[in-house]
Amino acid sequence: MFNFDKQVCRKNSNCAKWDILKVLGNENAIPLWVADMDFEVDPSIKANIEKRLQHEVFGYTFLGESYYNAVISWMKRRHDWDVKKEWIKFTPGVVPGINYIIGAFTNPGDEVIIQTPVYHQFFKVIENNDCKVVENPLINENGVYSIDFEDFENKITEKTKIFLLCSPHNPIGKVWKEEELRRLGEICLKHNILIISDEIHSDLIFGENKHTVFSTLSKAIEDITIVCTAPNKTFNIAGLHTANIIVPNEKLRNKFAKHLEKLCISGPTIFGAIAQEAAYSNGEEWYQGLMEYLRGNIDFAVEFIETRIPKLKVQYPEGTYLLWVDFSALGIEGEELYQRLIKEAGVILNKGSIFGKGSDLYQRINLGTSRAVIKEALERIEKFVNEL
Ligand SMILES: Cc1ncc(COP(=O)(O)O)c(C=O)c1O
Repeated sequence: MFNFDKQVCRKNSNCAKWDILKVLGNENAIPLWVADMDFEVDPSIKANIEKRLQHEVFGYTFLGESYYNAVISWMKRRHDWDVKKEWIKFTPGVVPGINYIIGAFTNPGDEVIIQTPVYHQFFKVIENNDCKVVENPLINENGVYSIDFEDFENKITEKTKIFLLCSPHNPIGKVWKEEELRRLGEICLKHNILIISDEIHSDLIFGENKHTVFSTLSKAIEDITIVCTAPNKTFNIAGLHTANIIVPNEKLRNKFAKHLEKLCISGPTIFGAIAQEAAYSNGEEWYQGLMEYLRGNIDFAVEFIETRIPKLKVQYPEGTYLLWVDFSALGIEGEELYQRLIKEAGVILNKGSIFGKGSDLYQRINLGTSRAVIKEALERIEKFVNEL
């Protein structure tokens, strides 16, 4: 019913993903970098925006009851999580949301723990608030990652105020197990540390893996946790800038709300709110189709790399549409490899170094595009590797 094979031309539309080609100097390159998918949007989102367009007046707006109901219903259906309306705070994106949380709950010089390699904006939001990034590197055993709990606890000082978690984890595609999350939660409880759980990829889970919402682990953990959610990845509507920051604890919520007020963060745009409500209320069928298509893309890409480019090493992602690929066997330094992939192979990936120290020889590949584009991109990488 939905045609995910269709290739939508996004060039010359001020598209961050595709219009970077001009900037990087290879107009024929295939961009598989930023986490943005190329599929036509769910038709129910488009129809609802079109309907509102007929109104012709676009003045100030606020979040209506049906917006909150749509969020609450999605969280219940998808994650078996009972969210109360008053817990939901709007921000114009998850990254801004995390930025504001850190601003609300730290003082300059405080420390925030992250688990590297991790989504590169995590470094920025910590530094934006004059806080110190403290890395708890994940243990990498032949591409299989796990948490170093001992190092995590050892890194905590009296200045550590926040643990910023990525769940599921970008870029490694890991869906954390309930026991792993519980252990982290217990350590944070013991040391009085606020947990920010970025769960923006939590609808994108494959196979037997199960996403656990951090604040559902226990009442005590709920009280020290803020969960960041959005339809931006699931429905690819990041350009409409909506996110829901969910704060069950009243004291934390009031403090956060005050901070948002101070920054004059109010409601969403009319179209952002409409898009989100449509996605969460009517987007189930498109979402199921997307998941099936993405699974097919991952199967295809992993098999292609394993059989045709065996010098590269890859693990099947448990969640996200991002593939974390080890290029170390090529013996090319990360920045040079990134540049040569653009200029010689004709593909734009995300270089591993942006996700933290120790990932220089990795590249991240975005599989949220039509299979034909992925095939062409992988054939280009295969040719590049064979000609080295
Ligand atoms: C873990 C993570 N958080 C947040 C974002 C961006 O969120 P937003 O566009 O809502 O600011 C991304 C985008 O790739 C991401 O991977």
